[in-house]
Formats: sequence, C-alpha cells, structure tokens
Amino acid sequence: MKAIVQDTYGSGEILETRDVAKPAIGEGEVLVRIRAAGVNPADWAIMSGLPYIARPVYGLRRPKNGIRGTDVAGSVEAVGAGVSRFKPGDDVFGWCVGSYAEYASVSEGSLALKPAALTFEQAAAVPMAGMVALQAVRDHGHVRAGQRVLINGASGGIGTFAVQIAKAFGADHVIDYTTEDFTKTGQQYDFILDNVSNHSLSDLRRALTPTGMLVPNGGLFGNRWLAGGGRIVRAAVLFQFGSQTLGNFLLSQKLEDLVALKELIEAGQVTPVMDRTYSLSETAQAIDHVGMGHARGKVAITV
Ligand SMILES: NC(=O)c1ccc[n+]([C@@H]2O[C@H](COP(=O)([O-])OP(=O)(O)OC[C@H]3O[C@@H](n4cnc5c(N)ncnc54)[C@H](OP(=O)(O)O)[C@@H]3O)[C@@H](O)[C@H]2O)c1
Repeated sequence: MKAIVQDTYGSGEILETRDVAKPAIGEGEVLVRIRAAGVNPADWAIMSGLPYIARPVYGLRRPKNGIRGTDVAGSVEAVGAGVSRFKPGDDVFGWCVGSYAEYASVSEGSLALKPAALTFEQAAAVPMAGMVALQAVRDHGHVRAGQRVLINGASGGIGTFAVQIAKAFGADHVIDYTTEDFTKTGQQYDFILDNVSNHSLSDLRRALTPTGMLVPNGGLFGNRWLAGGGRIVRAAVLFQFGSQTLGNFLLSQKLEDLVALKELIEAGQVTPVMDRTYSLSETAQAIDHVGMGHARGKVAITV
C-alpha cells in the first residue's frame, strides 16, 4: 500500500510517498481502507520533532512510528477475531496510528460508524479537534445557557467545533480579533478556551469573572524547547491566588466522546467546518498549511 513516511524530523520535504506492507490485523482490530485523514497541529509537531522536550515520547532521533496522521475515516475491509461492532463494508471514523496511508489496522474501540450525511473528509475532521472541544466545553467548562463563554481561536480546527458545541449548550457571540481585543473591552467571561496563547495570563484573568475558568489549550509552537509548557506552569502558580480556576487538560481519546460528537452531528447541532482538502501526495503541503496556525476550520487529506 502507499503511505507517507518520515525517517527523520523536519519540515514537509522530509515526507516521502512509499510502498509499504499492508498492516496485519490482530484480535479486536479492524482493517480500514482509508478514504480520508484529518490533519492536526499535532501532526506538524511530531513531523517537526517539536517541542524538543517531547522527543522521548515521539522517538529520540526519529519518530517511533514513521507514518503520521491519527484522524481517520474509511470503510471496513476486514475484521479480526473478536470484533463484534463492525463488518466489512461499514463506513467508520475514529483515530489510529498512521492515517496518511491507504490502510490502517485500528482497534475496534477507536471507531464509530460514520454519520451518513458527512463526507469521508468531514468525518476525518472530527475526532481530535471535536474531542478536545467537547471535553473543554462540556467537562471542564460545564457550559450552560446564561454563561458567557469565550473561544479564542474560534475559526480554527478546535475553535469551530467548540463554538458550535458551546452554542448547542446555550451560548453565542463573535469577536474579530483584528478589530477588537477581548481582554480590553471590560467584558468578563465565565469560561475562556484559549487555543492561541496570544494574550498574557494577567490579561486573560482580567477577562474572566471572579469565579471564571481558563482552559489554556495550545499555541506557542514558536518555543522549540517547551511549546506552551512554561506558560502552563506559570498559569498553575498564578491561579493559586483568588477564586478563578484553571482547567488544564490533555485530550483523552474516548469512544463515548466520539459517539457523543456523532450524535451532535446527526442532530444537526455540529457540522465540521472544512478549510481545504489535499490529495495523499500533497500531505506535506497539508501539514505545513496547518502548521502555519491559521487554518480556517479543518484540513483533510483525500486518500
Ligand atoms: N490539549 C490538548 O490535548 C490538545 C489537543 C489537540 C490540539 N491542541 C492544541 O490546540 C491548539 C489549537 O488547535 P487547532 O487544531 O484549533 O489549530 P488551528 O486549526 O491551527 O487553529 C488556530 C486558530 O488560532 C487562530 N489564531 C492564530 N493566531 C492568532 C492570533 N494572533 N490571535 C487570535 N487568533 C489567532 C487562528 O485564527 P486566524 O487564522 O484568524 O488567525 C485559528 O482560528 C494547537 O496549539 C494545538 O496544538 C491541544
């Protein structure tokens, strides 16, 4: 099968299209013929080997797994022993290791049936960004009608899901950051999801109500050693003072959350917002586009 492979860290030009062995499926696994793969800033970070502090996890000199991509949508081609939820021919979406390829073997518990109304590209756009947005807004923010919620980076992959999910739970308002700085308006919010890290922590605290919550979620890839790690430590210290709270979290990939997103999509409350799609041979351009930090919604690769 064709796959996009990296043997070293670097920018998009280190990626090569290669013929590699089709993955074998073990017990509880499903062989997915990939139709589309989602692109996330994490793919750019692992391709680049940044921040350096993460290299023991990625692989010290080269990535442990050379095929990037986690978000996947496709059709079940075969099922391993013990698989009960899927059969060949089912259209599915979820997460795996190495979705920039023609096939992947995927644990049954990392997949759900694809919402019928979505294209494969839209379905592949959902898992990581949708789950971050859901877990931030629902589990950390406990967002509900009557609250004031601010999503910084609302037009990006996570932001476009977070805005729709917050609205499904009862909130809405839009600020264009090129004309208005939300930390300077005097308006205060019960919950801020910060996908960008372009304001100081004290400005963000001023924009929170006295009992508001900040979820700092990324940005700062410019810091090649730590990315946002130093800011999170500073935030943890700062938020010791006063009654505002800090909702630090790392995405936890859960089937129940993928199913919750599928239900929001099927109920018409959430629709993946697509920026661009690329072909498999254009994977490097797709990852570099997302790595620039200004994607408009989600980017997907058509396989
Ligand atoms: N906590 C976790 O487990 C976890 C998991 C996945 C991702 N993340 C992190 O979450 C962050 C967001 O991910 P994403 O997929 O949403 O990224 P994305 O698709 O690249 O979106 C980035 C957003 O940031 C906005 N932006 C960039 N510069 C800005 C500025 N100066 N002021 C205001 N907005 C600005 C962009 O809007 P414009 O184009 O209009 O500038 C865009 O809306 C990334 O840093 C990622 O690493 C965290």
